[in-house]
Amino acid sequence: MITLPAELRHALNTMMAGHREHDLARSAGELTARYRRPAHEPALRSITDVAAYAATRMPATYAAVTAALTQAAASVPDFRPATQLDVGGGTGAAIWAATAIWPSLRQLTLIERDPAVIAFGQGLAAAAAHPAVRHATWRKSAIRADLATPPADLITISYVLAEMPPDAQEAVVRWSAEHGTMVAIVEPGTPDGYARVLAARDHLIGLGRRIAAPCPHTGACPLPAGEWCHFSARLPRTALHRRLKAAELGFEDEKFSYVIATSTPANPPESRILRHPRTRKGLVTLTLCSEELLEENVSKRHGDAHRAARNAAWGDPWP
Ligand SMILES: C[S@@+](CC[C@H](N)C(=O)[O-])C[C@H]1O[C@@H](n2cnc3c(N)ncnc32)[C@H](O)[C@@H]1O
Repeated sequence: MITLPAELRHALNTMMAGHREHDLARSAGELTARYRRPAHEPALRSITDVAAYAATRMPATYAAVTAALTQAAASVPDFRPATQLDVGGGTGAAIWAATAIWPSLRQLTLIERDPAVIAFGQGLAAAAAHPAVRHATWRKSAIRADLATPPADLITISYVLAEMPPDAQEAVVRWSAEHGTMVAIVEPGTPDGYARVLAARDHLIGLGRRIAAPCPHTGACPLPAGEWCHFSARLPRTALHRRLKAAELGFEDEKFSYVIATSTPANPPESRILRHPRTRKGLVTLTLCSEELLEENVSKRHGDAHRAARNAAWGDPWP
């Protein structure tokens, strides 16, 4: 379960107080519909939309980015970023996530075109324990082929590409690969999100970057047509979230696709678990991605490996 930092949770609650629940619920519904049919145009169209995004989507994008960056940190254990550029930063989910994983971050810059989104994100950031989040620079700007900012140790592009035309997606990925030591792209875990991630992965590999996560290799993706590589991050639902989304469960599973590349040496795992492990009496079956797609049976007689497989989860490295 990936939980928001306590001070972000409290700041979100405080900032929701200025909005009527009925209006937030309507905006949340409209946002869901817009994100299902991305149209390369702004999805957030009012202050209420921004608040509804922060209440219903930001915890999930925070969880997805946290899960993805955690895997990259495991592959590049010496990485100690000082600077982060967050492209299409929204209300700041990726700066909160990155600073929780790499407290070494000192200087954060977000590029965001929408002033209402920036104001909301800054309101949340003011409550952060990490000084870099409190003092982040929010640049009100459209994402262009040349982002005209200094290079950064970490560049995050989370849940943004769908709002841009394909040629602009390619341009921002290329610019990021040339200006960032590590580039993290996170998208919804849908066939379309995966397709955007796969295109970005090709550009990153074409520019000579190493893949830190999730792929253990830089060869072609071995998934057969019709399947899409995605992962799942579990997060608790707040009472407000349950009411806005008319949801019953006390948790939410955010599905996401991602690719994280680096210009420094990376040590990705031999393989990665691509589905929930299936457990039967004395036997765990893992679906693994290495250069190819594999099914591995780990039985009780494998001792420690069996114990590890029983504790392993979808998205984890293996062994
Ligand atoms: C779905 S939100 C994602 C926000 C944040 N990265 C996250 O993971 O929660 C996409 C954000 O990107 C911004 N955005 C989209 N296209 C943009 C562009 N061309 N230039 C600047 N900002 C853009 C939108 O205004 C919005 O705030």
